[in-house]
Amino acid sequence: MISILFSPIKIGDLKLQNRFVRSATYEAMAKETGEITNDLITMYQRLAKADIGLIISGYMFIHPKGKAMKLQVGIHNDDMMPGLKNLVDNVHSNGGKIAFQIVHAGMQSYKEILGMPPKGPSAGIRSPITLKKSKEMNEDEINESIQAFPNAVERAIQVGVDVIQLHAAHGYLINQFLSPCFNRRTDKWGGSDENNFRFFKEVIIKTKKTLPKEIPLIVKLNVNDFKEEGITPTLATKYTKWLVELGIDGLEISCGSPHYATYNMCRGRVPLEEYLQFLPSWQKPLAKLMFKKMIGKFGFDKPYNVDAAKAIKPALNSTPLMVVGGIRTLKEMENILDNNYADMISMSRPFIKEPFLVKNLREGKINKTSCESCNRCLAAVACHIPVKCYVNSFPTEK
Ligand SMILES: Cc1cc2nc3c(=O)[nH]c(=O)nc-3n(C[C@H](O)[C@H](O)[C@H](O)COP(=O)(O)O)c2cc1C
Ligand code: SF4
Repeated sequence: MISILFSPIKIGDLKLQNRFVRSATYEAMAKETGEITNDLITMYQRLAKADIGLIISGYMFIHPKGKAMKLQVGIHNDDMMPGLKNLVDNVHSNGGKIAFQIVHAGMQSYKEILGMPPKGPSAGIRSPITLKKSKEMNEDEINESIQAFPNAVERAIQVGVDVIQLHAAHGYLINQFLSPCFNRRTDKWGGSDENNFRFFKEVIIKTKKTLPKEIPLIVKLNVNDFKEEGITPTLATKYTKWLVELGIDGLEISCGSPHYATYNMCRGRVPLEEYLQFLPSWQKPLAKLMFKKMIGKFGFDKPYNVDAAKAIKPALNSTPLMVVGGIRTLKEMENILDNNYADMISMSRPFIKEPFLVKNLREGKINKTSCESCNRCLAAVACHIPVKCYVNSFPTEK
C-alpha cells in the first residue's frame, strides 16, 4: 500500500502532490542588495526537480530596517522583482511549487546590517549574540512595518508565487510582538494576549485583502520560545484559534530563535569550533563560554515539536498542520501522519544533505535521511558562507 506521505493534499485551493515540505532555509547566497543570484536559481532548480510537495524559500526581508542577515534575499522593493520572477519561473518549469517566506527581523538583527540599531516592540532586551540592547519602535514605525507585509505580498503575487508564508517564529518581529518575553508594551500593542496579537492580526487582515483566493496564506509559528514568559504550547494554541478565525490556510509549527534559543530551533550538535574560527579574536573568549554552556543540551531522541503538534491540532479544525524539527526517519514521518498529529512533514537540514530525499524514500532506496544534525550548515550561513552540507569538511576561509 502506498504511504499517506506520498498522497496529495490541498492547502486552501492549491493541490500539492505529496505531504512533504522543504522548510524555509536561509541560503546566504543573495547579493548584498538582496537580489537573486545564479547560484540561488541553480539550488532551487534542483529542489524543484525533487518531487517535494511545497518548497518554502529562505526568509526574505520586506523592509530595509527588517533585514536579518547580510546575504538574505529581499522583497522590499521593485528592483528585486526580475530576480524573484526568474526564481519562480525556474521552480515552475522544473515541476515545483514555491512559497515565499517573508519576514521583518525587528530587534533580532545587527547595526552593521541596518546602519542603525535594530528595533522591536520594546527597549532594553539584550541579544546574547550581539550583547546590544533593543530599541523600541514608535507608532509610525509599527504601522510602517505592518504595511511592509502586504507591499511585499503584492510583489510576490506579480512574480507568480504559489503560496505566502508569514514568518511568525524564531524570534523575529511578529514573534516578538506575540511573545510576552519580548513585548513589554503597555499601549494597545502589548500588555495582554489580545494586544500582543494585534500586530499580527493587522498584518494578516491587510495581507488577506491583497491576496487573491487561489494563493494560500500560511504561517510559521513558534510553539515554544524557550524563554521565561515566552510562548508555550498553551499560548500558541490560543493564537492558533485566532489565526483560524482570520482564515489562514495552513500552519507550520517550530520553536526557538537564532539569538535567544539557537539550538532549540535546530537541535543537534553545537558547532563550537566552526563558529569560532571566523570570529575576531577579541570576541572568541566570550563566544566560547556561551556556546560551551549549550553543548550536550540540545540532542533529540524524537522529533521535537510533535508533542506541541498534538496539543495544537484540535484548534485547527480542518486547516492543515505542518510540523518541523528533528524528523529523520520514514517511521517517524508515517507515525506523525497515521496518528493525525499533523498533516504534512516539514524538514530543513535533511534537504540540505539530500535534495532528492523524497524520491529516494518513495523508491524505497532509503528509510531515513543521512543528515547527522551536526549543524555545520547552520554555522556556515551564520558566517556568510553559502548553505550546503559541510559534514565532511568545513571551509577554512570565506
Ligand atoms: C541553514 C539553516 C537556515 C535556516 N533558515 C531558516 C529560515 O530562513 N527561515 C525559517 O523559518 N527557518 C530557518 N531555519 C530553520 C528550519 O526551517 C527548521 O525550522 C529547523 O532547522 C528544524 O528543522 P530540521 O530539523 O528539519 O532541520 C534554518 C535552518 C538551517 C539549518
Ligand atoms: S551539515 Fe549536513 S549533516 Fe550537518 S546538519 Fe547540515 S545537512 Fe545535516
